[in-house]
Amino acid sequence: MEERVYNFSAGPAVLPVSVLKKAQEELLCLPGCGASILEISHRSKQFGEILAQTKANVRELLNVPENYKIMFLQGGSITQFALLPMNIIRNTNKAGDYIVTGTWSKKAASEAKTQGKVNVIWNGQDEKFVRKPSDAELQTSADAAYCYYCANETIEGIQFPTEPNVSVPLICDASSEIFSRPVQMEKYGVLFACAQKNAGPAGVTLVIMRDDFVEMSGADLPSMFSYKQLADKDSMLNTPPTFGIYMMKLVTEWLKEQGGLEVMRQKNVEKAQLLYDAIDASNGFYRVHGNKEFRSFMNVSFRLPTEELDKKFQEEAKAFKLASLGGHRSVGGERASIYNAMPREGVVALRDFMVDFAKKNA
Ligand SMILES: Cc1ncc(COP(=O)(O)O)c(C=O)c1O
Repeated sequence: MEERVYNFSAGPAVLPVSVLKKAQEELLCLPGCGASILEISHRSKQFGEILAQTKANVRELLNVPENYKIMFLQGGSITQFALLPMNIIRNTNKAGDYIVTGTWSKKAASEAKTQGKVNVIWNGQDEKFVRKPSDAELQTSADAAYCYYCANETIEGIQFPTEPNVSVPLICDASSEIFSRPVQMEKYGVLFACAQKNAGPAGVTLVIMRDDFVEMSGADLPSMFSYKQLADKDSMLNTPPTFGIYMMKLVTEWLKEQGGLEVMRQKNVEKAQLLYDAIDASNGFYRVHGNKEFRSFMNVSFRLPTEELDKKFQEEAKAFKLASLGGHRSVGGERASIYNAMPREGVVALRDFMVDFAKKNA
């Protein structure tokens, strides 16, 4: 296939074309370097500048205060599911409070249980993960070091409209919504996100951690598992994911050119509304998984009346360059991931296809 499609994959996911082109231009010879980013030492001056610039971009975009460390780690978000309780619960003999709103926060709570005491303070499983809790439903525990939540459940397609208000520091899995809207960093002890949805390629995970959490973490753990040691060595305890960090630099530069995160939020909400309006106007032909006020503006998860129609929809969509629309294997149906880099034209093309498909098949 020679032509680019509209790629609705949940991750690894679409990247801005200008970012891919820039990476392509610079791949053979990084300006001022005489070699590729893939070939230079992580200890080189050039890579040092890339790391520093990526950190500065992240700090600027997310308005990260000076008392937070920004780290670029490996092992994906699931590794963070284990490292957080390993460092924070096990080392302090406290507990972790978990808000379970879908597949990813459920997995995080179950990984945390391998490391220490976990209190699931809210669980939406019996309601089939269709909503997020209100603040009134959240009672944090006396022994909690933190309250963990997942900002956007990628599989179920439900999102916290704003961060929960609780009396202990928040830990947030922002994997599928990082850089899609502004955040109030002061409310977080830790915010982390794997890059492969909204921030770059697979292989690098952004971890933003307040200094007191860094200090709380276990210095006596094996070095690569210790946030304290990782932070003290500025993500360079071993060879960091250099290409992923370079790509995140390009993505964050692109985000700054777009006008920053408030502009991205407006664009994202508007794109998602195009799809939800078509769904709501379909007389029940398309059904969204989550309750209306928690619908995700990153992952639009929906179903058709039968599995046969689901298959037909995905098959026929391909002719319109609409790709990777299958829902997660655990839930089926359709999922349109419309991250920052999905252009509005792609969403309009999908919306038009959906309207037409419903007319012909309802
Ligand atoms: C919200 C969320 N958390 C965690 C993960 C797992 O990320 P990784 O595959 O990088 O471990 C994913 C991704 O697929 C996700 O969407």
